[in-house]
Amino acid sequence: TLANFGLYGLGTMGTALAHNIAENGVDLHVASYRKADMDSFVADAPTFDGAVTGHDNLADMMRDMLTPRAIIFLIPAGQAVDDAIAEARPHMQPGDVLIDAGNSNFQDTRRRAADLEASGLAYMGMGVSGGEFGARTGPSMMVGGTASVWDAMRPMLEAISAKFEGAPCVDHVGPDGAGHFVKTVHNGIEYADMQLLAESYGLMRHGLAMTPAEIGTQFAAWNDGAMRSYLVEISAEVLQTADPQTNKPLVDVIVDTAGQKGTGRWTAIEAQKLGVAANTVEAAVGARVWSAGRETRAIGEEIFAPVRGPVELTSTQLEQAALASRIIGHSQGFDLLATASEEFEWDLDLARCAEIWRAGCIIRSELLSDIAAAFRNHPPAGLLAFAPEMVTTLQDTVPALRAVVGAAIAAGHPVPVMTAALAWFDGMTQARGTADLIQGQRDFFGRHGFARLDGGSGHHGPWAD
Ligand code: 6PG
Repeated sequence: TLANFGLYGLGTMGTALAHNIAENGVDLHVASYRKADMDSFVADAPTFDGAVTGHDNLADMMRDMLTPRAIIFLIPAGQAVDDAIAEARPHMQPGDVLIDAGNSNFQDTRRRAADLEASGLAYMGMGVSGGEFGARTGPSMMVGGTASVWDAMRPMLEAISAKFEGAPCVDHVGPDGAGHFVKTVHNGIEYADMQLLAESYGLMRHGLAMTPAEIGTQFAAWNDGAMRSYLVEISAEVLQTADPQTNKPLVDVIVDTAGQKGTGRWTAIEAQKLGVAANTVEAAVGARVWSAGRETRAIGEEIFAPVRGPVELTSTQLEQAALASRIIGHSQGFDLLATASEEFEWDLDLARCAEIWRAGCIIRSELLSDIAAAFRNHPPAGLLAFAPEMVTTLQDTVPALRAVVGAAIAAGHPVPVMTAALAWFDGMTQARGTADLIQGQRDFFGRHGFARLDGGSGHHGPWAD
């Protein structure tokens, strides 16, 4: 049965998605928890093929809709979602589905899905990427829920989604929290990618004395090569933009403190919990954290008065370093997806995840087609970085990454994500590392025992008591 659609929450994303749905000829009921949003939505609503009917609140909207109903929430993650579920629940009937299209924590989605499904009700956690423009013109969507809910929602979601060479950038990735988890990891990769571009910008600006506009031109040139991606494209545009008030480069009037709503941090946290090395994401989250300590940084600069020297690097070296870091960041993100898939029994198709990110989402890039191909061919040890599709590129670009990180460190420019990417690469290509000493230390002070290369575990060193 085709569902009747309702959308709850008419902020920036809700409005954009509502317009997209209605433009695709779907009749839509809308309501908002903020009355002002509803009023401006009705006032601004253009005429679409699909009729848009406004309601005062969620309960009224549900009462006025025919069944079965699919209600899409576009509301802030957290308590607001629990409140909306509590409000909708008394009005729900079997066959109805609630869809959370916000950036919810996947653990919350698992809990909510289990709770509703236990009462025979349906719940879907859907990751939506692409910002306001994506929501309006075609986002990338990662669906978590049961197969029957996906079947019911599929035609509408495919219609409103971004298309990559005609293929809809939406799929059912797994049950319960799988969709929100895949979206969270998308954002973790996004954080690392944004930060490595900021590091490239920093080196060009402070190490090569380039102007923002010149750096923008450089990024625009990268966008014609292997680094081609939405984030490189918009970085070029941001850097080439002048502030209308002062006519200075816009970046020079923006406070250098990055906000974060949680998804990047959750990626790092889940990686730690699941024992996955995602140090590029950790470094990116860490860099946002210290960006927030503006006053502290100013004090540090005053105390140490560091001299940041020039660097001698070519644009090709910088581009290659960024590409190597991007591949490693993605490799870590996909490793986390694979590990979570095992842990939560989601059966994620990593190639499909890469495919639905090829258009509409924030990390869409040239690289994702190769990533999809790499996963179809089962990379060694399941690691993207070890896939033949990536190995040649890494062999070509890691020397530049090494040169860039080396030069940056020597001259005093922080490049945390690139440094993390290189450390991971060097660590993961060393068959025998240095944790033999860690095990020796652990056994020395805590009799934790160690495994021996010639066999057996639980051995102890000949330490004095
Ligand atoms: C997207 C974005 C989007 C948003 C997040 C992350 O895929 O469309 O990731 O979901 O920008 O809120 O933003 P923060 O940087 O605020 O954590």
